[in-house]
Amino acid sequence: MRAPLLSAIALGAYTGGLVLAADVSTLSSCLKTISADVFPGLKAIAVDVWKNPEIGLDEHHAHNLVVDYFTKVRPGEWEVTPHAYGMSTAWKLDFEYRPPATPPNAELPVIGFMAEYDALVGIGHACGHNHIFLNGLAAASMARQALITLGIPARIVVVGTPDEENGAGKCQLQKTDAFRDADVWFMAHPTNANAVQPMNARINAFSDFRAATHKEAVRKAYEALVAVRDLAAGGLPGTASSVVAVEEVGMFECNVVQGEISLGINGSSLEAVQQTVSSILDSTYPGVSFKAAYDTDGGVNLTAIGPGGHASESTKGPLVLTIETFRTLSNQDDISFYLPGNTTLAALDIIFDIRSRYTHDLDSVLSAVKAAIGDKATAIGTDTVYPALEVTPFLPGLFTELMKTPDFGSQTDWPISTFAPASTDAGCVQNAVVDPVSHALLGADKIVFHPNFGICAPGGHCAFNHEPGFHDVAGTEYSYTRTEIVARALADLAVQLLNDPVMMANATGILGK
Ligand SMILES: *[C@@H]1O[C@H](CO)[C@@H](O)[C@H](O)[C@H]1NC(C)=O
Ligand SMILES: *[C@@H]1O[C@H](CO)[C@@H](O)[C@H](O)[C@H]1NC(C)=O
Ligand SMILES: *[C@@H]1O[C@H](CO)[C@@H](O)[C@H](O)[C@H]1NC(C)=O
Ligand SMILES: *[C@@H]1O[C@H](CO)[C@@H](O)[C@H](O)[C@H]1NC(C)=O
Repeated sequence: MRAPLLSAIALGAYTGGLVLAADVSTLSSCLKTISADVFPGLKAIAVDVWKNPEIGLDEHHAHNLVVDYFTKVRPGEWEVTPHAYGMSTAWKLDFEYRPPATPPNAELPVIGFMAEYDALVGIGHACGHNHIFLNGLAAASMARQALITLGIPARIVVVGTPDEENGAGKCQLQKTDAFRDADVWFMAHPTNANAVQPMNARINAFSDFRAATHKEAVRKAYEALVAVRDLAAGGLPGTASSVVAVEEVGMFECNVVQGEISLGINGSSLEAVQQTVSSILDSTYPGVSFKAAYDTDGGVNLTAIGPGGHASESTKGPLVLTIETFRTLSNQDDISFYLPGNTTLAALDIIFDIRSRYTHDLDSVLSAVKAAIGDKATAIGTDTVYPALEVTPFLPGLFTELMKTPDFGSQTDWPISTFAPASTDAGCVQNAVVDPVSHALLGADKIVFHPNFGICAPGGHCAFNHEPGFHDVAGTEYSYTRTEIVARALADLAVQLLNDPVMMANATGILGK
């Protein structure tokens, strides 16, 4: 609820207490000059982050790069808080500009920026968070200098938010009221295409399969995997819901679908296994292949190989190929299954990554998954819900119009879409209220503006987030030029909002309802 503060500012303007809104007609060209100064140094630390990937809560190098940069390389520009909000890899930057005519007690308008910098186990910055990091720092730094150049009293904060992928870093920060300073928060996420779009709600079901013997545990786990595939095929509750299994046998973390899965098959000949798998593997498995060979455990090691990818994509990957092979062979009494190289393990963990377009449907999807596997799993735990991120009115239109102008590359390919591609813990910051029947957006705690922007050079194949190939995309020169433009556009919008109480009121209209 910011209405009293906004009217205080407007009142200030009329009583001469505050300078009137500045002339921002030169803002876009001014930001180009500023960008030439601030972007290269920030890009260098983002490249360093890309070269030194750290997984969630372990982002110490990235944390220290920011703290060192703003205390040693560009000291005095920001008030720097290392290890902010009790999280060792969170940080905060704070800047306030009060031109001489500003009354000392005037409440300044505020905009916040969020930065992420966690990587993925085994595949580095395959989600491109080095660009979210750079975008947050660059947009905030550009807006900061523009406030000074144009004489606009305002405040900017930047919060470095750890562990987006798994640990719901922003949800943890939200509990400490880390986002209280501003009503409007900006970030931007690199991906394979431009869009201002919602993001799905997400929850993970961590299921544990135990039995007296290894082969019984493997059978239980694979039976559950089959059951969940059948559940999904039959239609999940909610809108655009999905459930994707991620095996957790020493491979990747949740949110990343494995690129390689091995299943041992005992009691069948190599030829029979090859024939079965070949009959299943068709063009509905994009980029998936397999190897099969007798191994020292006394059976056939079937290894399915594919591009890996994002748990929000319901494409058939290597794990699906082993599940369908299991389905085909498991009714033969003389066949048993094992995990090649690990045939003593009698407890297996499987993550079921559950997504739905609206937060209020997540519980029913989770219940359906629990019902499907409940008799097989020993225990089913869940993690923090990532609420769906809704597109709020006003800012998306301003942003996409800005992108069409020559200063931002005359980009006409910026849809405001209703398709939700993945999930983000920024949903915890927004905390949207959506009508369960009409799906109308009724209100929110904060405005979170989160465009997704394409970083793949035109022409070639573009990997999607969480495919190992996206790490390479996120390191290209082209990707950094894309982030410079998006950061500059967000800085432009931020300065406009900070300069114009009516615009700010329009942007925050749904708050407090
Ligand atoms: C078997 O898998 C478990 C669980 O991932 C792992 O902790 C263990 O080290 C593995 N054992 C071998 C021999 O690979
Ligand atoms: C495969 O089956 C053979 C014969 O029953 C048995 O000796 C061997 O231990 C089994 N291997 C595994 C990994 O189950
Ligand atoms: C199973 O086969 C794959 C693919 O050939 C291989 O990489 C893996 O090491 C094998 N596993 C064992 C335990 O031999
Ligand atoms: C803000 O909202 C008002 C009332 O809906 C509208 O008349 C005005 O044009 C809006 N201002 C901008 C800058 O969009």
